[in-house]
Amino acid sequence: MSKKNLDWSSIGFNYHVTDYRYVSNYKDGKWDDGAITTDSKIVLSEDAGVLHYAQEVFEGLKAYETEDGHIVCFRPDLNADRMEQSAGRLEMPAFPADRFIKAVDEVVKANVDWVPPFGSGATLYIRPVMFATGNVIGVKPADEYQFRIFVTPVGPYFKGGAKPIVVKVSDFDRAAPNGTGNIKAGLNYAMSLHAIVTAHEEGFAENVYLDAQSRTYIEETGGANIIFVDADGNLVVPKSFTDSILPSITRRSIVQVAKDYLGLSVEERPVRLDEVQNFKEMGLCGTAAVISPVGKINDHGKEICFESGMDEMGPVLKKLYDTLTGIQMGEIEAPEGWVHVIK
Ligand SMILES: Cc1ncc(COP(=O)(O)O)c(C=O)c1O
Repeated sequence: MSKKNLDWSSIGFNYHVTDYRYVSNYKDGKWDDGAITTDSKIVLSEDAGVLHYAQEVFEGLKAYETEDGHIVCFRPDLNADRMEQSAGRLEMPAFPADRFIKAVDEVVKANVDWVPPFGSGATLYIRPVMFATGNVIGVKPADEYQFRIFVTPVGPYFKGGAKPIVVKVSDFDRAAPNGTGNIKAGLNYAMSLHAIVTAHEEGFAENVYLDAQSRTYIEETGGANIIFVDADGNLVVPKSFTDSILPSITRRSIVQVAKDYLGLSVEERPVRLDEVQNFKEMGLCGTAAVISPVGKINDHGKEICFESGMDEMGPVLKKLYDTLTGIQMGEIEAPEGWVHVIK
């Protein structure tokens, strides 16, 4: 077995069909034993619940090769927990957390040749997904589901990697107050597609969504949480009044890294759009985005420019980025349980 012959440094954030995936099916009130398979195709009844009432939830995490040749992933227990929360909100059965982590291990080990080499800048993206396969016609939860994990090697989410991006304040809303914004379900992304296509056409990398109730507070972007650095060099993290921000595992880790490794103070609180001009740095954070610096926000033609500028990541975000990725890659000692060794 040897690594696949890919140009790892230029693969982009795209889907490659890899060799193996993990599949388990839920029927008669229980999950089957699950297995690794080679079949990337899914055959569904035309009446499958996922096609009509969007019963689908997913996760995203990454496996990395470390310098000493291990393959690790980052806090998969939190992905397992969040998937359980997401499933519960859509009346879907939980896939047990211990089986989730075991399945991640199995599918990554089976596709070990697809794990990008250490230092290539690429990683193996792991996509667990669960959806209703059972028949429904009236509006109700299905009684059969599939849980699947596939993997694909990926490069940076934003073109240019760590180059600052420009984002726009969206006129669309991502999540209703007390709706489903805090779970990772496809339905939260379907309605963001028109907004992101429009933003890209206008030359922006992402949308910043405001709270749907008052359109005053910053929530998050279509695919990442947001962090700011204030004038004193401390971290300010938007918090939602209405629980409509996805609880990002990267953001929760950054908060702990900022406090425990860098000695920063961290404020997690509602952040008004009109106070953002006082901040020095802004970043998008998530599994895919890691920490991507934002140079400017465009608010209906008015530019909010961060002191860190459009050339490189600001100094505080850079320290956070280096510390977080150092922990993930095994170069800096991780807090207990953060780095899960697969191989
Ligand atoms: C809407 C949204 N917010 C935030 C995040 C970041 O979450 P995490 O750090 O768990 O990947 C994601 C996914 O990456 C996302 O899709």
